Amino acid sequence: MTSVSQATHPSRNIALLGGDGIGPELMEAIRPLLTEAFPNWSLHDAAIGWSRWCSDGNPVPQETWEVLDRCDAALFAAITSKPAADAERELAPELRGKGVRYVSPILQLRKRLDLYANVRPVQDFVVVRENTEGLYAHDFTMAYLPDGDEGSADSFDLWKRIKDDTTVAATVTTEEASMNPTAKALGDVAVALRVTTTFGWERLLRTGAKLALERAENRARTTDSHSPAARNPNAAASDVEAPGVVTPRVTIADKPNVLRDSGDVIARAVERVTAEFPQVTFEFANADIVAMHMVTEPERFDVIVAENLIGDILSDLGAGLMGGMGLPASANYGDSFAIFEPVHGSAPDIAGQGIANPTALLLSAAMCADYVGDDGTPLRDAVHAAMASNPTRDLGGTATTVEFVDTVRSQLNRLE
Ligand code: IPM
Ligand code: MN
Repeated sequence: MTSVSQATHPSRNIALLGGDGIGPELMEAIRPLLTEAFPNWSLHDAAIGWSRWCSDGNPVPQETWEVLDRCDAALFAAITSKPAADAERELAPELRGKGVRYVSPILQLRKRLDLYANVRPVQDFVVVRENTEGLYAHDFTMAYLPDGDEGSADSFDLWKRIKDDTTVAATVTTEEASMNPTAKALGDVAVALRVTTTFGWERLLRTGAKLALERAENRARTTDSHSPAARNPNAAASDVEAPGVVTPRVTIADKPNVLRDSGDVIARAVERVTAEFPQVTFEFANADIVAMHMVTEPERFDVIVAENLIGDILSDLGAGLMGGMGLPASANYGDSFAIFEPVHGSAPDIAGQGIANPTALLLSAAMCADYVGDDGTPLRDAVHAAMASNPTRDLGGTATTVEFVDTVRSQLNRLE
């Protein structure tokens, strides 16, 4: 097994966050394999998730932040995120009605640890999703206090901007709309603010560009004499846009035709970053068309970067293209820490049955290995081989979670 070579690698501290639903059973199933494949890893379990929310009013306990602080990277399995009303209902009775707000633990981790680039590989291309701003940044129920009330200014200004929108005007009473000083809240109107900054986009674009260059290098290494590029190296880029031969390209999937100011900010960031990566082509595309092309012509993409919500949606579309949510892995990278996690959620409908597909978590572990300086490739290859020889039910096979992991283990032994 690869453990022999990995044994000489420096020791690494890896936090394991099982979470909810299928998360804990997936983590338990792969734990022995991690121990064998990466004997230099010390595994540190940390609590996170829905049960901690219900009992403590916070899904990320303080001890968990401390464990993460001591680790080199973390592997996270799955988490439940329910809408506000359910979250309140399931809270311990003594905590209800106190204004405790549920914030999804994975969003807390991404934001607080500043893990700004969410890299989500989709077969032939990669989605790089922004993790710290965009449409996830602020979402609140519209409330205003009359002029002069302390703390009301922000809400008040925002209110002035939206109050005449036809649906807003139709939602609130005339009395409220005319700023009746006794009106205190507009619970039927909520606003999500999309934050777009050059700082946020420059660092995101740099990650995307470096990834595109890395991918081009890997392609160059594996390009054989039969590829179109090798047959005709002078062909125009458009003639050789088959998988494996595109020049490094970053596609920015947004809505610059509608969200014009945000689009301008992104364009400014692109201008600066382009100068640092002369070999990389940056192109703007409307996110809706990107969604269509992901289905009809996926080979036209290399690296797709997108803001938080758009990236979230496109990466699930990518999962569908690959054959389902059981497969895609992802990495949340910051400048000095990273968390690796499946793109899938906690699948409560199949939790506890031992049938969930551990592929995404195993592939996330392989990405984690690459990040900490070990080699994730043998594990990745073994997972792919196991998918072909003994697939889980979601892929039409019969393997249970543990049987699949066993198949990966024997593939790993064979690959050695
Ligand atoms: C994801 C998930 C999360 C997100 C949820 C669970 C908060 O869908 O990682 O894609 O929206 O980011
Ligand atoms: Mn998602």
